[in-house]
Amino acid sequence: MVDKPWGGRFGEKTDRRVEEFSESISFDRRLFEHDIRGSIAHAEMLAAVGLISAAECQQIVRGLSEIRAEIEAGRFPFVLEREDIHMHVESALIERIGDVGRKLHTARSRNDQVATDLKLWARDALDRVDARLVALQRAYLGAADRHAGLILPGYTHLQRAQPVLAAHHFLAFVEKFARDRDRLADCRRRLNVLPLGAAALAGTTLPIDREHVARALGFDGVTANSLDTSSDRDFALESAFVLTLIAEHLAGWAEEWVLWSTQEFSFLKLPDALCTGSSIMPQKKNPDVLELIRGRSARVIGSLTTLLVLIKGLPLAYNRDLQEDKEPLFDAFDTVDACLDLAAVVVEGATLRADTIGARLDEGFLDATTLMEYLIRQGVPQRTGHEIVGHLVGLCESRGCRLADLPPEAFAAAHPKLDAGVKDALGVANAVAAFQSYGSTAPAEVEKQLARWRAKLDLSNG
Ligand code: ARG
Repeated sequence: MVDKPWGGRFGEKTDRRVEEFSESISFDRRLFEHDIRGSIAHAEMLAAVGLISAAECQQIVRGLSEIRAEIEAGRFPFVLEREDIHMHVESALIERIGDVGRKLHTARSRNDQVATDLKLWARDALDRVDARLVALQRAYLGAADRHAGLILPGYTHLQRAQPVLAAHHFLAFVEKFARDRDRLADCRRRLNVLPLGAAALAGTTLPIDREHVARALGFDGVTANSLDTSSDRDFALESAFVLTLIAEHLAGWAEEWVLWSTQEFSFLKLPDALCTGSSIMPQKKNPDVLELIRGRSARVIGSLTTLLVLIKGLPLAYNRDLQEDKEPLFDAFDTVDACLDLAAVVVEGATLRADTIGARLDEGFLDATTLMEYLIRQGVPQRTGHEIVGHLVGLCESRGCRLADLPPEAFAAAHPKLDAGVKDALGVANAVAAFQSYGSTAPAEVEKQLARWRAKLDLSNG
């Protein structure tokens, strides 16, 4: 029987079924490095304020470092009886260095310890995701460069709307992921205050120095209310929300590209190496990676939902429910991490098919709005212009032709201002060139945005 560190008041051995039901070591062992980092900082603070001696601190730090090496090497024995990573590390330390090890838990509780470990883990994970987002943004910029000058039909309601540059399409995702990076940074900033020192729920009577620990662990400060501290999982929920939005952005992109890779669209060519086949239909080449990225957003949304429901109605301070926070948080990070990685691979490998896209750019009256704006520039009220061009589109539909194919008489009959100049407003190339507003798909504007992002991404991660 392994003695529990909390076993003093217990007269019976823990029921095996309870041990199996309540353990978290099977998943919180992932926190080992952060747990040990936190314990080392804690021990060094205990020595600095005189609660343990310098020699004891040295012994503790050496012991913890050895345990870390043992876990890293896969030689550390994990056992159910020791519940969680905190008890594993502490018990192993006591086994190793004896009574001195029994001092490590001075002025500390697993409640502030687990909050600290999880914050340290989440902070590293947020930084990893941020690096992935930068890599993906760079992949989009690369795609924009590879497809310079290519015009795409832009859609609203999935109906052909107005022409846009392919670079504009790619930059749209650079912007979305920039907001995600911003949210990550914001979440990280709010997360970055140290829980340790809140102890179980009320703080401690011992003369600890929380700022000392905060500095050692790279926190910007310490939490101000011990009761709040042991119950606070806002950082986990905020992280999960940011991850959910990233997953949603990826899912939207993946959905569009799944469509684009269909025979019907034939806009997108994916390398064979990034597709999979069918076990029965020999001709199939499926965009499974995109479908999985789309599908995996479900898991991330699920994790966020789990966390939201988990903390709903929880009383202050620590409740064991909080142990359930880890798996959804880990899963949300792992899922988004993997999806971002593969998304960059797909964006780097994909080619938009200029041939098939170009061949059908004349369909769908992508230049109709430009023609209406031509009329507005001639002083025609917008509503009138809209109606006139609408009639012309109807005429084209009945004749089976493009706006550019209508004879000058048809334009003149529709409105006297529709003179020879209309030819310069028609056709997708003219339509794209006619844009000029800030943030539009105007070639000069897109070039400005590309330059801005190139500079920014090289600077921020050079
Ligand atoms: N394994 C626990 C968790 O993950 C650690 C904290 C346990 N605290 C306690 N008072 N039982 O939440």
